[in-house]
Amino acid sequence: MIRARITGTGSYVPDKVATNFDLEKFIDTSDEWIRTRTGIVERHLVVEGENTSDLATRAAQRALEMAGVAPTEIDLIIVGTITGDYPWPATACIVQSNLGAVNAGAYDVSAACSGFLYALAAGADRIAAGNARKVLVIGAEVLSRILDWSDRNTCVLFGDGAGAVVLEACEGDQGILSSHLYADGSQLELLYQPGFGTRITPSAEAIARGDHYLKMQGNEVFKVAVRSMAEVAKIALDANGMTTEDVNLFIPHQANIRILDATAKRIGLRDDQVYVNVDRFGNTSGATIPIALDEVNRAGRLKRGDILLLDAFGGGFTWASALVRW
Ligand SMILES: CC(C)(COP(=O)(O)OP(=O)(O)OC[C@H]1O[C@@H](n2cnc3c(N)ncnc32)[C@H](O)[C@@H]1OP(=O)(O)O)[C@@H](O)C(=O)NCCC(=O)NCCS
Repeated sequence: MIRARITGTGSYVPDKVATNFDLEKFIDTSDEWIRTRTGIVERHLVVEGENTSDLATRAAQRALEMAGVAPTEIDLIIVGTITGDYPWPATACIVQSNLGAVNAGAYDVSAACSGFLYALAAGADRIAAGNARKVLVIGAEVLSRILDWSDRNTCVLFGDGAGAVVLEACEGDQGILSSHLYADGSQLELLYQPGFGTRITPSAEAIARGDHYLKMQGNEVFKVAVRSMAEVAKIALDANGMTTEDVNLFIPHQANIRILDATAKRIGLRDDQVYVNVDRFGNTSGATIPIALDEVNRAGRLKRGDILLLDAFGGGFTWASALVRW
């Protein structure tokens, strides 16, 4: 049986750091409120001239370097993002060009905070089907450019960054054991960006209304996120005949420490099984899981055979899990 194995990880966040104290200077918030409600202490933000494709390219180069894979060997590049450089073409095409991955197809996946796990599933399935040998999967976001920096309900929560993995075909027991994807579009207005697609086109009125900004009803999203992430995690374990005892590390989408804690508790995971870095990066949407994965990998925390449970929830709504044997 051919499986997709992660042979390299990489991540990149912009140099500029904004602490909660920095935000206190221009909106009515406090470090204490943000820390206690979200667990976030600081986030990285792009500066003028830095774009999603730049972050994605840097993360991808680091993952390729670790895997020892040349860009020309890559068959496919998939970028999970909702903040691409352009509405179209895909940011994956810009990354393809930046890397010189001249033999690769390239496309973006729009599944918000679940974007990386959706992209991972697509890449792993293409390898398992024998249609690709080496796939680059990236989660990259510049959320700071779609935030209303005068709206304290949303702007304190998010950050910019990118993470990437190289998937390679392998025969053996390692790799992506399963992926499960779900969606419910009936409540999309709880977390979305109204403009500018074909429904709301750019106009002075739309811009004055702030339609180009991310909108969220945080407390409603919170409840659905915890329920959905817990469900899809259990589905992953059941599908593989495993229990929480088998999980060496749970790497959830880093939205908010309270969502992570509540989800882990609902699944029955101990604190030491859960990876948390939301304090340093905030919610980087599709980038949170690959950034976290790269951190634990580079810290030498992963041993061959370890079971990793990856779990995400985001706008759409979308939610997803993947079970990985390292
Ligand atoms: C956004 C979130 C942190 C808000 O926490 P909460 O405990 O639900 O807080 P509420 O929305 O009930 O707001 C409580 C109060 O804090 C205020 N508040 C909101 N943001 C604030 C901020 N940054 N600083 C200070 N006060 C703030 C609200 O205005 C409200 O004040 P009021 O009671 O006077 O109206 C929380 O709902 C959450 O994490 N939701 C999930 C969001 C998320 O992660 N989304 C992405 C999923 S992929």
